[in-house]
Amino acid sequence: MIIAIDGTTASGKGTIAKRLSAHYGLPHMDTGRLYRATAVAALKAGVPLDDAQALADLARSLDLADYQEAELRTAEAGKAASVVAVIPEVRQALFELQRAFATQDLGALLDGRDIGTVIAPDADVKLWIDASVEERGYRRWKELCSHGEDVTLEAVIEQLRVRDKRDQSRKDAPAEMAVDAVLIDTTELSIEAAVEKALAAIEAALARG
Ligand code: DC
Repeated sequence: MIIAIDGTTASGKGTIAKRLSAHYGLPHMDTGRLYRATAVAALKAGVPLDDAQALADLARSLDLADYQEAELRTAEAGKAASVVAVIPEVRQALFELQRAFATQDLGALLDGRDIGTVIAPDADVKLWIDASVEERGYRRWKELCSHGEDVTLEAVIEQLRVRDKRDQSRKDAPAEMAVDAVLIDTTELSIEAAVEKALAAIEAALARG
């Protein structure tokens, strides 16, 4: 079984994906980490974020064990990830890794932006997780503050708008809901309620076959 979880930044997609992978006993890949690690590798090595070839080389030789979760989660890493994710050579370099993970015998659950459309269009179930930009901004702002980052709520919301636009308007594999995906809007939902809703949507999709 392959489950594809896509959606916007700070929609709750990552947490929902973790809970669902535990529930179904499926190996989980957070594909945003691949783009974040590529971006952090570039920032560390002083590689310009528009050098397609050098970035693709970094992406191909990534070892996720080299990166601390905290350094991948900063606002700077998220923004740079969205920038390098526009580059087709980078997406191509990360494709095989994701495709191999998706098609392993154990089944898999992947979360990202283009899992249902590009990486696993053949997924058994596809969800698109979203929430209003204000609510997502508030969640991300709280998270950044708890990590000691000094930012205003308004700035975080504006950064999300810019990020959404970049992710959704890129030519190669834009972040978009697959036609056969189920939308889960988490604006008014607690994480527990969102997970419940996602589980119900998956069970209904599996029952439909
Ligand atoms: O989900 P995230 O915030 O960790 O993702 C960081 C960036 O990586 C996001 O802005 C766009 C990019 N990304 C992508 O283009 N495709 C994916 N499957 C996952 C992430």
